[in-house]
Parts: sequence; C-alpha cells; structure tokens
Amino acid sequence: MKVLNIGSMNLDYVYSVDHIIAPGETQATYGMNVFLGGKGINQSIALAKAGVDIYHGGMIGEDGQVFLDACRDHGVHDEFIRTIDEKTGHTIIQVDKNAQNCILLFGGANQSLTEEYIDEVLEHFEAGDILLLQNEVNKLDYIIDRAYDRKLVIALNPSPYNEKIEACDLSKISIFLLNEIEGAQITGLTEPNDILASMRKRFPEAKIVLTLGKDGARYSDKDCEYEQPIFPVKAVDTTAAGDTFTGYFLAGLIRGMEIPDILRMSAKASSIAVTRNGAVQSIPKREEVEAALSAD
Ligand code: RIB
Repeated sequence: MKVLNIGSMNLDYVYSVDHIIAPGETQATYGMNVFLGGKGINQSIALAKAGVDIYHGGMIGEDGQVFLDACRDHGVHDEFIRTIDEKTGHTIIQVDKNAQNCILLFGGANQSLTEEYIDEVLEHFEAGDILLLQNEVNKLDYIIDRAYDRKLVIALNPSPYNEKIEACDLSKISIFLLNEIEGAQITGLTEPNDILASMRKRFPEAKIVLTLGKDGARYSDKDCEYEQPIFPVKAVDTTAAGDTFTGYFLAGLIRGMEIPDILRMSAKASSIAVTRNGAVQSIPKREEVEAALSAD
C-alpha cells in the first residue's frame, strides 16, 4: 500500500506583530522570517516524520528548489513534484503576541495543475493506496473523481473551505480531517456535537476527525466516538498545528494503531509544533513525540 499527497508548497513570509493588523492601519513588525510551508507539504513532512513512506505531488516554480531539498532531507519521495514557469505559491503570515495567526495566500504554481499531470501521477497508484488532499491546489474535484475511479482511499482536509470544496463529490471521501470552522462551513452548524452528527448522517461510512483548538479533538466513525483533550503548552506559533495533527493521525491509521492512541499521539505532536516557529520546521519527529508521551 502506497501513500500519496497531492498538495501545496508555499514560501511562508512570517511577520511577528503586536496584533493582527486592522483595515487602514500601518504597523511596524518585530521581525520577519521565511519558512517552508503550505498545507500539502506540511502534511507530507508530518507523515514522513511520523515514519510513513510518502510520495508528494504538486507544482513549484524555479524559486521552489528549497522544497525539493526539504523532501530529500525528510525522506519524502519528490519524483512527482513538477517545476514549472510560474511563481511558487507564497503566503504572508502575521503571528501576534498571543501566537494567533492570519494567513494571506497566493496560490501561484499550486493553482497550475492540469488534468494530464494528475492522470500521470495517479497512474502510479492503485486500489487500496491512500491519497491525502487539502484545498490549496486547483482541480480538487477532478483529483477526487479520478482517484475514486482508481479505488484509492481518499482522505480530505477541506482547508481552506471555499466553493471549490462544494464542487467536489464528498461522498467519495473515506476520511475527513477538519477543524470546527470547516465543520461549520460544510454543515451550517456550530456546535461540535451537531457538526459530528450532521457529518455522520451525510457520510455514514467515513471516519471523521474534528479538531477544536483549545478544546482538543473528536473522532467519530460508524462504530465509535472518542474525545482527546489538548496537552497544554505555551504556544509561540500555531501555524501548521492542524497539519501536524493530520499527518500524525493518518500515520497512526496506516500503522494500524488504536484510535485513542492515534488521537493522543497526534495531540502531543501538535502541542510540540506550536512551541516552535514556522511550519515544516516546527513538526516534531516520531521519536520526540513518543519520548514526550512516555514522560507524561
Ligand atoms: O496550515 C498552515 C499553512 O497554511 C501554512 O504553512 C501556509 O502556507 C498555509 O498554506
């Protein structure tokens, strides 16, 4: 069984600020860093750090060589990453003194996927292989349809939520990993219990993971439900906390772990990630997560 993630790669331009800027305001920043990010590559690297053999697909520009280097450094297969004549995706991220962030996203090469490219990548995968997706690349509906035709097991993190998610046939998704905002956008409901009940009704065969920020995470499938509180820490940057959770959760499923253990491991991995700056570089390795869990 192989694992593929077709997803974004962004250069994150991260500014430390006193508060998230208001319309019309000019604000001096405390500092600026460029980090590797993008929900796609963050999740691939989280999977790799959690011990999964993972293939990443997606597009970058000539300015995106750093992503190929990072894949090699972290053991992510990069042969499906295409370098094209476009700018690599980037973000402008503000992180305030409470570690809250806001993200402005420029899609660039991430929005240049073609049907030919997608077909070519999917050709290397077969029934039972796992495909992980987010919503920072174009042609998401096409990827889901073709992967489903090939009988891949599809996991979707519908982030960021927009009309492109509505264009997808979500009945083809086997695993949803979403936060409460995306849950509310998909179901029109705000209470976690209501979101989960509505998702259950609409997607009875799917596994559903709902992350709730400081209120932890919930899991539900047709047989069981579990809750996982957070591990409280002093956060400095919450960027990629959700991506870390997603990568570790999927890694746990792939390794055949019990759901409560997977939730605990994923929550611990996220709690470590938020104590560090940046996206890719904040994601802990499995040994570190396991050591922290046994020290609790
Ligand atoms: O989920 C965090 C990521 O969202 C950042 O790395 C940024 O690139 C945006 O895509």
